[in-house]
Amino acid sequence: MSYEDISEAKNYIMSRINGVPTVAVVLGSGLSPLAEEIENPVVIPYKDIPHFPVSTVKGHAGNLIYGSLNGANVLCMQGRFHYYEGYTIQQVTFPERVFALLGIKTLIVTNAAGGVNKNFNCGDIMLITDHINFMPNPLIGTNDERFGERFPSMNEAYSKELRAVALNAASELGISLQQGVYAAGTGPSFETPAEYMMYRTLGCSAVGMSTVPEVIVAVHSGMDVLGLSVISNVFNEQSNEQQTHTEVLDNVNAAAKKMVSLVKNVIGALSNKK
Ligand code: HPA
Repeated sequence: MSYEDISEAKNYIMSRINGVPTVAVVLGSGLSPLAEEIENPVVIPYKDIPHFPVSTVKGHAGNLIYGSLNGANVLCMQGRFHYYEGYTIQQVTFPERVFALLGIKTLIVTNAAGGVNKNFNCGDIMLITDHINFMPNPLIGTNDERFGERFPSMNEAYSKELRAVALNAASELGISLQQGVYAAGTGPSFETPAEYMMYRTLGCSAVGMSTVPEVIVAVHSGMDVLGLSVISNVFNEQSNEQQTHTEVLDNVNAAAKKMVSLVKNVIGALSNKK
């Protein structure tokens, strides 16, 4: 994925929209209702954008949606790309490079994740405080200094300031937020009980199959990131229950309203700050 490819994608998006996006939002499985809240939406199918990959998973749409949400111009990914679909890790993170060239400074990433922390329940929302990466690093390869430095710090990958905004928004809405470390595996198989136990031992609170490569590229490109997980299933070592993809989606759908109002409120707070 060359700088020229990324520029072409950026130029195409610019040609389709009338305004400047300031926030990008990546919607995870079952969270696309947020996109329906966008006013005066311009829907740009991924297949129309030069060099953009196309999403293949059930429950994932494939559109970039531009419009106004609670006072801010947002560019929203309805459906993301997963490494397990067979894309290269650079393809997975192509959109974040495009967001960077568009001048977007804030990225909100959402996902569905398995609860590893014993205190978590299905339907909880977790504010991601940090991550542990078990996926390939998307920065492997030649470094393009136009985006960022060779060895970027991940000391505060999830902006403290944005986390404070999210905690405040949640408390205004009466939503209790969990907080914790997100572990990223490649999937697509769910974890074995031993793997869930390993993540717990390592201090992870949730595990999923996305987000972290996107965050690494966004941080490398100088963006501030807010990460939110819907806990779609929980690991319980006493029971032998197996989650299914359908169950995961059902549980996310049930919590989607909470996530939608939280993200809207956060975006509102950000646009009021400016
Ligand atoms: N593991 C990994 N990814 C997930 C899970 C899980 O339990 N639930 C939703 N995404």
